[in-house]
Amino acid sequence: MTTDTAAQAAYVVAALLFILSLAGLSQHKTSRSGVVWGIAGMVVALAATVGLASRSITTTGLVLIAVATAVGAGIGLWRARVVEMTGMPELIAIMHSLVGLAAAFVGWNGYLDVDAELSGSLLAIHHAEVFIGVFIGAVTFTGSVVAYLKLSARINSRPLTLPGKHVLNIGALVAFVGLTAAFVARPGMGLLIAVTVIALALGAHLVASIGGGDMPVVVSMLNSYSGWAAAASGFLLANNLLIVTGALVGSSGAYLSYIMCKAMNRSFISVIAGGFGTPAAAAEEGEQGEHREINAEETAELLGNATSVIITPGYGMAVAQAQYPVAELARKLRERGVEVRFGIHPVAGRLPGHMNVLLAEANVPYDIVLEMDEINDDFAATSVVLVIGANDTVNPAATDNPTSPIAGMPVLHVWESSNVIVFKRSMAAGYAGVQNPLFFRENTQMLFGDAKQRVEDILRGLDALDTPVPAMAGTSR
Ligand code: TAP
Repeated sequence: MTTDTAAQAAYVVAALLFILSLAGLSQHKTSRSGVVWGIAGMVVALAATVGLASRSITTTGLVLIAVATAVGAGIGLWRARVVEMTGMPELIAIMHSLVGLAAAFVGWNGYLDVDAELSGSLLAIHHAEVFIGVFIGAVTFTGSVVAYLKLSARINSRPLTLPGKHVLNIGALVAFVGLTAAFVARPGMGLLIAVTVIALALGAHLVASIGGGDMPVVVSMLNSYSGWAAAASGFLLANNLLIVTGALVGSSGAYLSYIMCKAMNRSFISVIAGGFGTPAAAAEEGEQGEHREINAEETAELLGNATSVIITPGYGMAVAQAQYPVAELARKLRERGVEVRFGIHPVAGRLPGHMNVLLAEANVPYDIVLEMDEINDDFAATSVVLVIGANDTVNPAATDNPTSPIAGMPVLHVWESSNVIVFKRSMAAGYAGVQNPLFFRENTQMLFGDAKQRVEDILRGLDALDTPVPAMAGTSR
C-alpha cells in the first residue's frame, strides 16, 4: 500500500469517527463517548496528514510541525482545564476566530503559491476558491472576535445600529460578488486586499448589529461559518478530510442555528443578516414600580407548605455554582411530599444545554427536568416558582410588549403561578439589557444575594422547620 492510499484510508476512518462523535454528542448519556470518538478521529487525521506531508517536507519542516502541534495542544489543554463553564461560549467564539484566521491565511497562501501545472478553467476555479476562502475566513475571524468581546462582557451586548446598516451589509455582499468575478478574470493582489478588508468589516458589523438576546444563534452560526471556512481551505489544499470535516461542522452548526431560531421565534435569515427586518426596539430602562422582598426563612416556610414547586434556573445559578444546594433543595422538598420539577429554557445560561449539564452534574434526576414546552402550561397550577438566577428567559415583556428588544422570544410563564421568588443580587437587567416587569408583579418577591448562599440559607430554614421546638425546661442555669 502506498503512503497516499494509506493516508486516504485513514481519512475515511477519521471522517467516520467524526460522524460517530457528532452522533454521540447529540444526547447527554452518550456525550462523553462522543468526545472520545472526536479525539480519536483527530489523532488519526493528524497522523495521516503528517505521514502524507512527510513525503515532500524536509526534516526541519517536520520538526516545525511537531513544535507547532505541541504548542497548540499545550495551549488547548491549558485553556480547557482552566475555563469556567460560564466562560465556555467566549472560549468557543475565540476558537472559531482562529479557524477563520487560518482559512484566510490558507487562501492568501493559495494566491501567493499557485501550482504551476494549473491552467485554464482549473486555474479559474483555484482563484475562485482563494477568493471565497479568504472572504469566509475573514468574516468568521472578525465576527468571532466581536462575539468573544460581547460574550465576555468586554463590550456592550446591545445591538449596534449604524444608519443604513442593512444597505452596508448588502453593499458588502454585492462588492464581494463583483470582486470575485474580477479576480477570477484577472487575479491581482489589490482585489484580494480589497475583499479581505471588506470581509473583516462585514464580519465585525454583522455580529455587532445583533442584540444580546440573539447571541446564542450567533455563536452557533459562527460555528457553522468556521466549518465552511475549513471546507474552503480543504478545497484549496486538496485535502478531502478537511472538506468532509468542514462540511460536517458547517451543516451541523447551521442546523443548530435553525433549531435555536425556531426555539426563540426568530427568523434565521434575519439573524444571519445582522438583525435584518427586525423593527428598532425600545428598551425599557429603570424600575417599573415597587418590588417586594422576602428572606430565606420566609421562603423556607412558603416552600414547606407548598404542594408543587417549579425551579427555573438561569445564568446566575451557573455563576453562583448553586446547582448542588439547588439539587439538595429539590431532594429535601420531594422527601416532604412536595412535587418538584425544573423548567429549562432552551437558551438559559450561556450555552445550549448549559442548565441540563449543571443539573446532571449535581445528580438531579432527568425525569424531573423538563423543557420549556413541556412545562409552560403547568405554571398556573403551581404553588411556588423559584427563579434562580434567570432573567431574560422569564421576562413577560417578551410576550406582552411588542416594542421590547426580546419581543416574540418564547419565555417560561413563571408569573402565572401563585408565588414567584426571584433569586438575584440586585435589580439589574439580564443579558439582553432589558428590565424585567416580572420583578414588579403582585405575586413576585425578590430574594437578594448570591444564589448559592440563599439556597443554603433556605436549606437551613427547612431543617429548622423540621426541628421540634424544645419544651420549656423548668430549670435554668
Ligand atoms: P440572564 O438574562 O443572563 O440573567 C442572569 C441573572 O442572573 C442576572 O440578572 C443576574 O442578576 C443574576 N445573577 C448573576 N450572578 C448571580 C449570582 N451569583 N447569584 C444570583 N443571581 C445572579 O439569564 P438567563 O435568563 O439564563 O438568560 C440567558 C441570556 O443569555 C439570554 O438573553 C440568552 O439569549 C443569552 N445567551 C444565551 C446563550 C445560550 S446558548 N444559552 C448564549 C449566549 C447568550 P444580578 O446581577 O442582579 O445578580
